[in-house]
Amino acid sequence: MGMFKDMLGSGESIFRDTTALDFDYIPKLVPYREAQQKQISLCIKPLVDKRNGRNMFIYGPPGVGKSVVCRHLLKSLEDEEIDDVIPIYINCWKKNTFFKIMLEMCDILGYKFTHNKKSEELFGIVKDMLNKRSVVFVLDEVDKLEEQDFLYNVLEEIYRKTVIMITNHKEWIVELDQRIKSRLTAELLEFHPYTKEETTGILKDRLKYAFVPGTWEDDAFRSAADKTFQLGDVRAGLHLIKESGNIAEDGSSKKVTVEHVKKAIEKFDEFNIKDKEELEDDTKFMLEVIKRHSGKRIGDIYKEYQKDGGKAVYKTFQRKVDSLAKSKFIAVKKITGGSEGSTTIIMHTGAVKKLTDFE
Ligand SMILES: Nc1ncnc2c1ncn2[C@@H]1O[C@H](COP(=O)(O)OP(=O)(O)O)[C@@H](O)[C@H]1O
Ligand SMILES: [Mg+2]
Repeated sequence: MGMFKDMLGSGESIFRDTTALDFDYIPKLVPYREAQQKQISLCIKPLVDKRNGRNMFIYGPPGVGKSVVCRHLLKSLEDEEIDDVIPIYINCWKKNTFFKIMLEMCDILGYKFTHNKKSEELFGIVKDMLNKRSVVFVLDEVDKLEEQDFLYNVLEEIYRKTVIMITNHKEWIVELDQRIKSRLTAELLEFHPYTKEETTGILKDRLKYAFVPGTWEDDAFRSAADKTFQLGDVRAGLHLIKESGNIAEDGSSKKVTVEHVKKAIEKFDEFNIKDKEELEDDTKFMLEVIKRHSGKRIGDIYKEYQKDGGKAVYKTFQRKVDSLAKSKFIAVKKITGGSEGSTTIIMHTGAVKKLTDFE
């Protein structure tokens, strides 16, 4: 036997198909979300009948199936060859400017001559293509858009459409630019975390595809499912399951045991805490101040921060508040129209950063 085989052992892998654990894998069915799928389909239905569609705003915490439900639906539109309706999925975290979105859309629509063209020009071309038919836009992580021109243009110039916007932050809709808000009527659809039974069911299903049957001990699976339910995030759960499998395989074990899962959980928790330690010093200091004054207005917290020796100007402070909120260290709540006008309330969440923010 060669050195590698010697070191690694010659056993077969416990994994059958790891793609089933990938975050962007689209399962054949999306159980427990039938009602939501139905509601979204109803927004799209008018398009099939050559009328204008309805818009929708989907919100809820990370890892509860918002993206997968929408992507599954777009895929069905494609598979069922509903030719008159063009499905367009855009992840606004990755494509966060008008120009990047236009390039992506040209790519989806197969238009190649994008060189030296500006956003507006590309939009003109795309618009002509889209207005011959109807369109379903899914704008995922829509709050990550740096500019709202794209939304404005779509609402103004695409005739038959359904715009589905997904976000983890419901507040975003309140902050939308007025010229967009006045053009946008959207139904709201909230996604709640899965129950314990649902979480277990989803993971069990994925496990079936990803691993050779019988490789997971019952209590190992149960502890992974419990942790996932506790986190309320299926994405984190899939990560845990993959990691547990890797740990088992690294130890040349033919079974995934409770011990492997325990190690994977430790690694997961440790990773999340370490991340907090790596925060910039001033940001860490800010976080301490926020913790002491949790629930107060941003302006007042800034004053406390200065009093304690903080040096950042208000704009920088605000920017850091945004990024702390995005990473879930704090929660912010916008209040509009109070006696002192609009303001932001900041709350320390006590949470350590979630893995899901790294994708
Ligand atoms: N009902 C479900 N059935 C199967 N897989 C699911 C289900 N809900 C979520 N998932 C899986 O969990 C992960 C996170 O779901 P996702 O839709 O990306 O969450 P969100 O967009 O709400 O953050 C994805 O890998 C997804 O495939
Ligand atoms: Mg998502």
